[in-house]
Amino acid sequence: MDICAGVTQNEQMSGSFSDLEHDHLTVFRMMLEIERIMGDLRAGRATLVVVSDELLEALTSLEGDVLGHFAREEAALFLELRKTLPELALSVDALESGHDRISGLTARLVHALHSSVADFTQVEIMFDRLRREYEQHVVDEKNLLDVVRKKLPTEERVRLAKLMEGL
Ligand SMILES: [Fe+2]
Ligand SMILES: [Fe+2]
Repeated sequence: MDICAGVTQNEQMSGSFSDLEHDHLTVFRMMLEIERIMGDLRAGRATLVVVSDELLEALTSLEGDVLGHFAREEAALFLELRKTLPELALSVDALESGHDRISGLTARLVHALHSSVADFTQVEIMFDRLRREYEQHVVDEKNLLDVVRKKLPTEERVRLAKLMEGL
C-alpha cells in the first residue's frame, strides 16, 4: 500500500506529513564518542583516571539526550498511541520498560564514574549493556511504528506525525 495515498500534495510539500519515523542520531553520535574513549582505554592509550572527566561529560550529555527524548516520546507519542490504538498498549508498555532500563543504566554509569574507585571493567560491561538495550529499543520502536502505520488512516498518521516532530 502506498503510504502517501490520500495525503494532499500540499501536505507533502509543506513537510507536515512524515513516515511516522524519527531518528536517534543524537544519542547514537554520543554513544560513538563514548565508544571512542572506551577504545582508547581498551587499547591502553589512556587510563580511566585520565579520561574520566571526558567520559563523564560525554555520559552526562548522553543522559540528558536520552531522558529528554524518552520524556517527549512518552508525553506525546506513547500517550496518543494508548488513546488511539489501545490494542497496542502492551507494546507501548514494553517500550516504556526499555526507557526505564536505558535511563537506569545511564544514570548508574554516571554514578559509577563519579566514584573515586570507578573500575574500567565495570564501566565497560555497563556501557555494553546500555548500547545493546538502546539498539534493541530502536528496533522495537521502529517495529511498533510499522504496525501503527498500517493501522492508522492517513489523516491520523498525519496528526501523529505532527506530534512526533521534534522528538
Ligand atoms: Fe525514539
Ligand atoms: Fe523510545
